Amino acid sequence: MKFLVIGATGNIGSSLAEQLSGEGRHVCAASRNVQGIHVQGALDKVVFDYDDPTSWITALSGVTRIFMIPKAGDPCPDETLLPFIDAAAAAGAERIVFSTAMGLDKDWRVLCAAEDHLIKSGLEYTILRPGWFMQNFTRGFLSQSVKSGLIAFPAGRGSRLSFIDTRDIAGVAKVALCDDDLLGGEFTLTGPESLSWEETTGLLSAAYGGTVCYEEVTEKQWRDTLLSAGLRPYRVEQMLQMARGMREGLYENVTETVTAILGRPAYGLQAYLAEQIL
Ligand SMILES: NC(=O)c1ccc[n+]([C@@H]2O[C@H](COP(=O)([O-])OP(=O)(O)OC[C@H]3O[C@@H](n4cnc5c(N)ncnc54)[C@H](OP(=O)(O)O)[C@@H]3O)[C@@H](O)[C@H]2O)c1
Repeated sequence: MKFLVIGATGNIGSSLAEQLSGEGRHVCAASRNVQGIHVQGALDKVVFDYDDPTSWITALSGVTRIFMIPKAGDPCPDETLLPFIDAAAAAGAERIVFSTAMGLDKDWRVLCAAEDHLIKSGLEYTILRPGWFMQNFTRGFLSQSVKSGLIAFPAGRGSRLSFIDTRDIAGVAKVALCDDDLLGGEFTLTGPESLSWEETTGLLSAAYGGTVCYEEVTEKQWRDTLLSAGLRPYRVEQMLQMARGMREGLYENVTETVTAILGRPAYGLQAYLAEQIL
């Protein structure tokens, strides 16, 4: 078996490539810039860009099992994910594990089409729908806000989130790639608890040794902030849609799926922060 891991420079992909390689599997780590792949263990590296179909041919060569994420905020999955799934099938791949996002069955219509396309492709598949990543606070889009002590966000005051550690997503993806037990499954993956913003900023404050506050802002204020930070308008609207989903409670449920599949509890935010911020 040869495994292609898309997003190998990112949170999930780097952990997955490391976990697979740690078991002695033949891993091909994919990125637009292979110099940026920093994964422990022996693996091949391959240039891969959803926006450059010529790169798919080399990346898919000899590959049997694929881990796939969408590029964040992809405005046109019809031109990237859908033809890539077809190309993978044509190249002889047998299985795709596709990680999308929690709440996708109720929201984010463009990605639903990609999930449907995979389901109907004839390939073996597993769909993972993870909740909000803990890594957003330490190296993702909220890390600067955390450092400044203020998370200003239009997520409402009452919203709760069941943050997940991306290493748990990678762990489940590894099982879905290597074993047959999760074939044809669609799984919502979350952390072990659903936290309010007050609880979340309390944990962040304790971990960073300062005060981190949450301030509810209006959609207009946040749109202006994101636009002035240089985000493209379609991406800004997607981020606002995500914040709306938060206010509607789309990302607050807790599932036991990680525990059931990995046979141990999912990592919690407090333990994650304690480990990351030494
Ligand atoms: N953040 C959250 O809370 C959250 C929650 C649910 C779902 N998600 C979804 O999870 C995914 C992000 O996962 P992550 O955190 O593991 O990644 P990440 O750390 O955000 O890194 C993004 C990855 O996407 C790859 N990528 C971007 N554009 C690409 C392109 N044109 N072709 C090929 N690869 C491309 C990057 O590879 P290179 O730059 O190296 O090419 C990189 O490895 C996104 O689809 C996001 O929507 C995020």
